[in-house]
Amino acid sequence: MRHPILMLSLAAILAAGCNRDPAPATETAQPAAPATAAAPAAAAITDEFSYAQPDKVRIADLALDLALDFAAKQLSGTATYTLEWKDQSATELVLDARALTIDKVEAEGAGGAWAPLQFALAPEDKTLGSKLTIQAPQRPAKVRVTYKTSPEASGLQWLEASMTAGKQHPFMFSQSQQIHARSWVPLQDTPQVRFTYTAHVTAPAEAMVLMSADNDPKAVRDGDYSFKMPQKIPSYLLAIAAGDLVFEPISQRAGVWAEPGMASRAAEEFSDTEKMIQTAEKLYGPYRWDRYDILVLPPSFPYGGMENPRLTFATPTVVTGDKSLVSLVAHELAHSWSGNLVTFATPNDAWLNEGFTSYVENRLIEALYGQERAAQETVIGRNELKAEYKTIDPKLQVLSLKPGAVADPDEASSSTVYTKGAWLLQFLEQRFGRADFDAFLRGYFDHYAFQSIPTTEFLKYAKANLLDKHPGKLTMQELEQWVYEPGIPPGAPQVQSRGFSVVDAARVAWLGSAQLPAPAVTSAWSTQEWVHFIESMPETLTPEQLKQLDDAYKLTGTPNGEIAQRWYPLTVRSGYAEARPAIAEFLQRIGRRKLIMPTYEALVKTDDGLAFAKDVFAKARPGYHPITTASVEATIAQAKPAAASATPTSDAAAAEDKPTADDAEKNATHTDGTSGTAEPAETN
Ligand code: BES
Ligand code: ZN
Repeated sequence: MRHPILMLSLAAILAAGCNRDPAPATETAQPAAPATAAAPAAAAITDEFSYAQPDKVRIADLALDLALDFAAKQLSGTATYTLEWKDQSATELVLDARALTIDKVEAEGAGGAWAPLQFALAPEDKTLGSKLTIQAPQRPAKVRVTYKTSPEASGLQWLEASMTAGKQHPFMFSQSQQIHARSWVPLQDTPQVRFTYTAHVTAPAEAMVLMSADNDPKAVRDGDYSFKMPQKIPSYLLAIAAGDLVFEPISQRAGVWAEPGMASRAAEEFSDTEKMIQTAEKLYGPYRWDRYDILVLPPSFPYGGMENPRLTFATPTVVTGDKSLVSLVAHELAHSWSGNLVTFATPNDAWLNEGFTSYVENRLIEALYGQERAAQETVIGRNELKAEYKTIDPKLQVLSLKPGAVADPDEASSSTVYTKGAWLLQFLEQRFGRADFDAFLRGYFDHYAFQSIPTTEFLKYAKANLLDKHPGKLTMQELEQWVYEPGIPPGAPQVQSRGFSVVDAARVAWLGSAQLPAPAVTSAWSTQEWVHFIESMPETLTPEQLKQLDDAYKLTGTPNGEIAQRWYPLTVRSGYAEARPAIAEFLQRIGRRKLIMPTYEALVKTDDGLAFAKDVFAKARPGYHPITTASVEATIAQAKPAAASATPTSDAAAAEDKPTADDAEKNATHTDGTSGTAEPAETN
């Protein structure tokens, strides 16, 4: 269940050449490093998704002064940068921008007076946005840009009051990762540049404004808010939200912000957060970000969660009442070490953030909820990886992507990044033993704290502090195979879930005899067990079979998004038309990409389904976030329906690469995501 970002089957072009040995990007002097680790150099590596030139100049601090206007769906004001010029012959400051109106650019002179600078905004590239080139031959220490956002800013969503839970007040929020910060602040939008920031934001008095900064749980709503983020963060962690938000504490340093109707339910759901923080601290050192709050957003939030520092953004779809989906909090909290503290240098090294985080997430789940729950989540993730490896380009099965591998970094994330990444760390843990591996990882987070590094830097650190320190346990070739080769290397550790064996047996028995498992069995099933039950079904069932499941378990109309994500595509592939009204409702109520895209993807495979998808999308679209809209539009545009009716032909069924009944049986004993491109992994 940790495969959040959709892997659209895009034409992935692999650039020639190999990016194995760039220098790390870092701008701060580091505390004394272990003698075995090489000190990072200050050179920048190329980030193909940014126009910025961090080797020439870097933003060290950002000061925002913005007015937030719900009616105009606009942020407007100034961004003032404190600059560190790295190249004394540089004459330009190049920033990333997207759909911004730039009114003026100024530099601060010696006496504190601001003088205009010339600038040029290049035509917009669809993926990267616009290059904003500012002439700054004097290399001023401060530059100020006066600008406005577009109502269509890709990194913001503006919701009418009617689209919120309370229906009284409008709402807005940002989603900057991967490269959308540039649509609401002109900046060097590459994770290689880290900066501190302050912000002054004015808004209607009834709106509470929050940022990825020092939010005050006791803040009064007065329409005038000030923020400070004293720790250096990369641009993708810049975040803002505004609306009818109230605070509910979880512990001294943790709490929930949400619309009034959601706040106490969410605080209850996430009541284990403080325990999670303490568990992570025991493993990886102190939580360095002061408060840890969770902002529960409206259901249009396009992701499950976003690790904005001090203020995780979360989908309301994980508030299920049974804490079954709180691994989302474990995940976003884990990013406080893997990602926010030690950051990937470019989105092509995404696994350094997401793979490490998925590993830590699973450790937290194991510590809080036990090995069985952790195993179930691992098996679900690895089964998704296994499914992905049947279709995905081998060039995208490597952990360190080569430049050019993906056209749009929003599509760069996949099960490979999350699950293969975590699997590598699980493999290392097994090889070196938990105690030594934990010590290593803690040392890694400390050593590279507040820096952005490429995969090569991790390899260098691992060689010095793991391989060489514990000789004879792992060769560099083995490690490099995981990082640079497609598939899962042989010898990858396997995980078994006892609970899933019961689920598998129940499914196999039902497929053979139409005899449903005893209610005493299914009534105790967790979300994960239901997910596994549905996900391991054959490609299609008969409408009668689906009806039998529905009568017994009310799966159509389920309030659980993780179950809906798997159930509705199965109903679509199977031509089970009774689910259509509930599907329409689901696709209009939820905007979280991972949950709804599988259903759209199943629908567009038939003419009839495509027409239905278009119809539902037309209604849902005003409530969708720009990121979700883009994904649905792409899926509809690329649709090549293979059949004229909702009943799938054998071709349509064959085109899908879902587990079959045979696979399902295998899953009972062999639950790995081993790729066909490598030798089968051993079982343990
Ligand atoms: N940082 C990601 C979200 C993200 C990744 C946004 C890439 C844009 C580009 C976040 O930490 C994440 O992984 N969210 C998952 C949560 C899940 C793994 C528990 C999601 O949104 O599904
Ligand atoms: Zn993540």
